[in-house]
Order: sequence, then structure tokens, then C-alpha cells
Amino acid sequence: MSFAELRENERAKRLMAMGRMAANLAHEIRNPLGSMELYCTLLKRDLAGHPTSLELAEQIHAGIKILDRIINNCLQFARDLVVRPKTLINAEQILKDAAVYMQPACAEASVELLIEDRGDYPIRVDPYLVQQALLNVTLNAVDACRGQDGKTVRIVSDRCSRDEWRLMIRDNGPGISDADQEKVFDPFFTTKQGGTGLGLAIVHSIVSAHGGVVSIDSVLGQGTTVVLQFPVSAQTADANQFTEQQ
Ligand SMILES: Nc1ncnc2c1ncn2[C@@H]1O[C@H](COP(=O)(O)OP(=O)(O)OP(=O)(O)O)[C@@H](O)[C@H]1O
Ligand SMILES: [Mg+2]
Repeated sequence: MSFAELRENERAKRLMAMGRMAANLAHEIRNPLGSMELYCTLLKRDLAGHPTSLELAEQIHAGIKILDRIINNCLQFARDLVVRPKTLINAEQILKDAAVYMQPACAEASVELLIEDRGDYPIRVDPYLVQQALLNVTLNAVDACRGQDGKTVRIVSDRCSRDEWRLMIRDNGPGISDADQEKVFDPFFTTKQGGTGLGLAIVHSIVSAHGGVVSIDSVLGQGTTVVLQFPVSAQTADANQFTEQQ
């Protein structure tokens, strides 16, 4: 076994152990958290005429929502990824559906979103999971560029060869140091307040479950590019159809 395979093997084992732990924790925390959210909503109603106390209750509610997101991410990360029977779908459709969620996030952060679809073509992936991966990567880019002048997030969808569909997400944000680049796919690595550090770990799982590869390339002060590569060679019948249509 090569060094790279050993490392990947080790990583897979670590992910499994962390996944089990995350699932147990999430399970135990979820129920009391649900009650807290409900009681907080009721409390806020009672405090309608007391602005100072209401503000405190709002803060508690905001904290509960962050915890809820962490728990949901943990559960998502821990559960075995099931790639639903991959339907043949146009790449353009995946981008269009994801844009519905990405546009408001970009607008809110004053970041320009550019989507470049280099030709429409059918691909066989789990559209829900791929959209989720695309959203996680894009929201990271948006977070990195938030509120700064002249920032853009560019998404390029490209069937670069007969065997590969590539989604590239590039931002001109602050970039990531070499040391941190080593860790960004590790579960729970985050530099954000309120971040779970599970976004890119989930992206890695999703792309791997499709037999694909995810890579990151970043230069401090210049920006970050994340590339999701999906193999399409297994789609023989449809790939042939695709080739014939060219
Ligand atoms: N485009 C980017 N530019 C700069 N830093 C990034 C970028 N994408 C990821 N990172 C770094 O990688 C870390 C891990 O990202 P990941 O998506 O796994 O977790 P997160 O974004 O911190 O938390 P969550 O996804 O739960 O919001 C981030 O905290 C950030 O430091
Ligand atoms: Mg993230």
C-alpha cells in the first residue's frame, strides 16, 4: 500500500470514529434542544412588552439556532451517505436550482455571483447531494469575501472531457494559508465563529460517494479555487448518446 493510500485509509478510519461519536452526541442533544427552542419562542411571546428582557431571549434563541445547525451538520456528516439512484439531469438544471439559494446569500454579503455554464449536457449524479456540495463550497467563498469591495465568486461548470464533469468555484477573497489548506477537509476544522467545520468534510464525502475528487488551491491575498470532479465514464449508454449528439 502506498503512503497516499495509507493516509487515505487512516483518514477513512478517523472519519468513521468521529462520525459515530458525532451521531451519538447529536442524538442526545437534539431532543432537549428542541424543547429549548419551543420554550424560548413562548418566552419571547411573554416578553413582548419588555424590550431588554426580549433582547436577551433573542440572544438565547440565536444561540439555539446555531446549535441546531451544528447538530444537523453532525448528523448529516455521520449518516451513511446514500447516493440516490442517479437520475440523468442537465448540469444547467443543477446550477439553476442551486442559484436560488446562492443568489440571496451573495446579495446579503455584497458579493457578485458569476455562473458560467460551458455547454449543457446530461450527467448522472445525485442532484440533491451535488447541490448541497456546491452550496457548501459557495457559502464558504461568500463568507470569505463578505462585505469587501469588488469581490466575486465565479462558478464554472465544464464537461471538460468525455469522462469528467468539473465544477469549479473560485473567489478573490483573502485565501487560505498553506498550513490551513492541509486541514480544511478535516471534520471540525473551522476558523469561523459559529462554524461547524463540517462543510468541506461533507463536500468530501459527497464527491467521494460519486467516485469523484475534490481539491482546493489557494493563495493568500489572492483567493481560493475549489474543484469538484465527477467521473461520468460509468454512464456508458448516455455518454455515448452525449458523444453522438456533439
Ligand atoms: N473560500 C474560502 N476562503 C477562505 N477560507 C476558506 C474558504 N473555504 C474554506 N475556508 C476555510 O476552511 C474552513 C473549513 O471550512 P468548512 O466549510 O469545513 O467549515 P466552516 O465554513 O468553518 O463551517 P460551516 O461549514 O459549518 O459553516 C473555514 O473555517 C475557513 O477557514
Ligand atoms: Mg463552510
